[in-house]
Order: sequence, then C-alpha cells, then structure tokens
Amino acid sequence: MSKVVVEVQGLYKSYRSGDIDVRVLHGVDLTVERGDFVSVMGQSGSGKSTLLYLIGGLDRPDRGEIRIADRNLSELSDEEMSSIRRTRLGFVFQFFNLVPNLTVEENVLLPILLDGGNLAAAQNRLTEILEIVELTHRRRHRPSELSGGQQQRVAIARALINRPELLLADEPTGNLDSTTTGEVMDLLRSINRDTSTTIIMVTHSNECADYGSRRIVVRDGTIIDET
Ligand SMILES: Nc1ncnc2c1ncn2[C@@H]1O[C@H](COP(=O)(O)OP(=O)(O)OP(=O)(O)O)[C@@H](O)[C@H]1O
Ligand SMILES: [Mg+2]
Repeated sequence: MSKVVVEVQGLYKSYRSGDIDVRVLHGVDLTVERGDFVSVMGQSGSGKSTLLYLIGGLDRPDRGEIRIADRNLSELSDEEMSSIRRTRLGFVFQFFNLVPNLTVEENVLLPILLDGGNLAAAQNRLTEILEIVELTHRRRHRPSELSGGQQQRVAIARALINRPELLLADEPTGNLDSTTTGEVMDLLRSINRDTSTTIIMVTHSNECADYGSRRIVVRDGTIIDET
C-alpha cells in the first residue's frame, strides 16, 4: 500500500439553493498520508462536513479528483464505492446514530450483519474492539442505558470493526461534555497511534484539534494548511 491514503485535487462543490448557487468548495487540494491524524477546522458553513462526505464517497464533487488508497472515486460505480466505504472507511458523527433497540455488541457488528458477513468469524474482532473502547462490561446494554461518551465509543467501535485504514469523524465530541470529550479524544489518539489508522476529524475545538498531528482550516472554499 502506498503511503498516501487520501489525495484530493482541484475539488469543487456547489449546492443549489432556490436559484442561487452556493459555492462551498472551490479548488481544494489535500494529501493525507498513512498514520496522519488531521484536524479540520473552520467557521460554521465553511464546508468541513461537505469535504468529509466527499472524501467518504457519501456525495460526489462537481469537479476534481479524490483518490483513496490509489482508487479514483470518480471511476467507481456506486456498488464499488459502497464496498470501499464498508471495508476501508469508518465514519463517526456528532450524533452517535446507534440503533436504539440493538445491544452494544449488535450495534458494533451491524456493518458485518448488513454486509451479509460471517458473524461467528467476527467474534474475536468484536471482543478485541470492545476491549479497546473499554465497553466489554456493557456489551449487552442498549444505547439508552449508556452515557454519551459510551455511546460515542460504541459508534467508534462500529466504525472500526472492519479495520478501516481511514476513519472520518465529523465533530465526534460535539455532543459531549468536557470529561467525556477527553475520553473519546484519548481513544481516537490511541487508535491512531496503536494501529496507524489514519484519521480526518472535523472539530470546532482547539483542544480537540491539538490531539491531531496536523491541522487544516477550510476558508473561502479552499484549505489553509496550518501544520
Ligand atoms: N445538501 C445541501 N443542500 C444545499 N446546501 C447545502 C447542503 N449541504 C450543505 N449545504 C451548504 O453548504 C455550506 C457548507 O456546509 P457544511 O455542512 O459543509 O458546513 P460545515 O463547515 O460542516 O459547518 P458546521 O461547522 O456548521 O457543521 C453551507 O452553507 C450549507 O448551507
Ligand atoms: Mg459540519
């Protein structure tokens, strides 16, 4: 595998709102290497989430190229794209998006379940990932029986169950108090360090951004690297 995990070149994205074109990204270039932990900052509405979704193949750019591990996303069919999303990417959002009537372990196994994968074969990985996020003792709990920080750790475990090389996190601590924010950030840092999982994390918090190895700012539709 090459050292570059994400290569973004000349990315443009506008949204149409009524008869106005809202230019969100115009001419974004970004290279992320394996093991990087990139914090993405910038004002509300500057296009941080848009950039993350484009990188994750959840939306398509108007113009420009995105390569994930040497695959050009614009050349992929929807089917190939979702396969890459499931196997090579992990997503974590501000609102944990857990399934309320499933237990912790069922939520974590969901990507494998939805993929028709072998649940029995995933048991070792499940045990391992629950250890990493320190939720082994809560494996049979439902989301409503967990704290916010614990719920986010379930979401992180779910994002990591398939050992993705790239984790995309959109304000993962945006809904947490300062203590649980610290727990979640410590977890992300150790995942980044221990497994070389590349992380791109959007945050409004300077403290959270400091956990990253590199900081970029989205401003006026482009990126200013503040490494
Ligand atoms: N689906 C959409 N349709 C129309 N406009 C959109 C859509 N998604 C985003 N936008 C617009 O694009 C701009 C960038 O949105 P985006 O969500 O990327 O900002 P952000 O930097 O993540 O902001 P925040 O910090 O508030 O989350 C905003 O002006 C928003 O209104
Ligand atoms: Mg956003």
